[in-house]
Amino acid sequence: MALDPALLSEVLAGLDAAPRTLPAKLFYDEEGCRLFAAITELPEYYLTRTERALLAAEAGAIAAALPADASLVEYGASSEDKALVLLDALAAAGRTARCYVPIDIAAPALTALTARLATRRPGLVVAPLAADFLAPIALPSGASPPRVGFFPGSTIGNLEPTAARAFLAQARATLGPASRFLIGVDLRKDPARLLAAYDDAAGVTAAFNRNLLVRLNREAGADFDPAAFTHEARWNEAEGRIEMHLVSRRAQQVRVAGVTLRFSEGDSIHTENCYKHSLEGFVALAMAAGWEAPRMWTDAGATFALYLLAPSGGG
Ligand code: AVI
Repeated sequence: MALDPALLSEVLAGLDAAPRTLPAKLFYDEEGCRLFAAITELPEYYLTRTERALLAAEAGAIAAALPADASLVEYGASSEDKALVLLDALAAAGRTARCYVPIDIAAPALTALTARLATRRPGLVVAPLAADFLAPIALPSGASPPRVGFFPGSTIGNLEPTAARAFLAQARATLGPASRFLIGVDLRKDPARLLAAYDDAAGVTAAFNRNLLVRLNREAGADFDPAAFTHEARWNEAEGRIEMHLVSRRAQQVRVAGVTLRFSEGDSIHTENCYKHSLEGFVALAMAAGWEAPRMWTDAGATFALYLLAPSGGG
């Protein structure tokens, strides 16, 4: 399959820029999704485990703070597991959700998720939406207010602060006045721990990063030698982010969609940013987008936080 023309233009523009970049959305082809699922199970990648435990421990308190009969709207729903913890806690609190709207750009994955839910929770009304949630979206007609947004996994950390703010403001408009928004956010911590999470001993994250080049070879007529690029995770203190790079091991030339690129030894392609927010920093970001954060839950080590946002000025 050839890369979508708009994505190919983004790829070529990024590879032509200084410093060179590739769009992070390129990560999630079938192999990328498989590798990311493997990352979430790695001993060094504490994010998924910590959020899952936090959600399980606090689900009752979270459900008690959510409206009854809400439409639960999950942004970037690649798995139903975390939403089910919330939906079950809502039901146990007598606040059963009216419907579940999983949103994801990958239509086949959404179809599979919907089929699984038909078996796992036969009574649940599921209204999947295949869409890029960074663009304006129209919710399915059944997803009436009050609405509860759910954005787990610290995916918000993959957005530049301006894009994160725009996304939060747009979600506020989509979810409506009486909404709530539950967001999982990875917090700042010892850079050594962060670096290990993004450069694991088994090399799964390195394979995830190099898979970008494998994908470009297959879908953009490129001739990268993935082994000629080293995976590097870097902590950028000034920006508060982990950066992933692919660094050329030697001087080399690569062709991508008919364009020749020249790399010197040590030249990098910057492939991803993973922002790590401070507790107050994330509240400030949310406030700038029209939300306030009446509740927040974190684990004992303040590793990861779940923020419950409400529209500022009431509602
Ligand atoms: C999807 N996202 C939250 C992951 C993260 O931790 O930023 C993507 C990832 N990249 C490398 N490892 C995981």
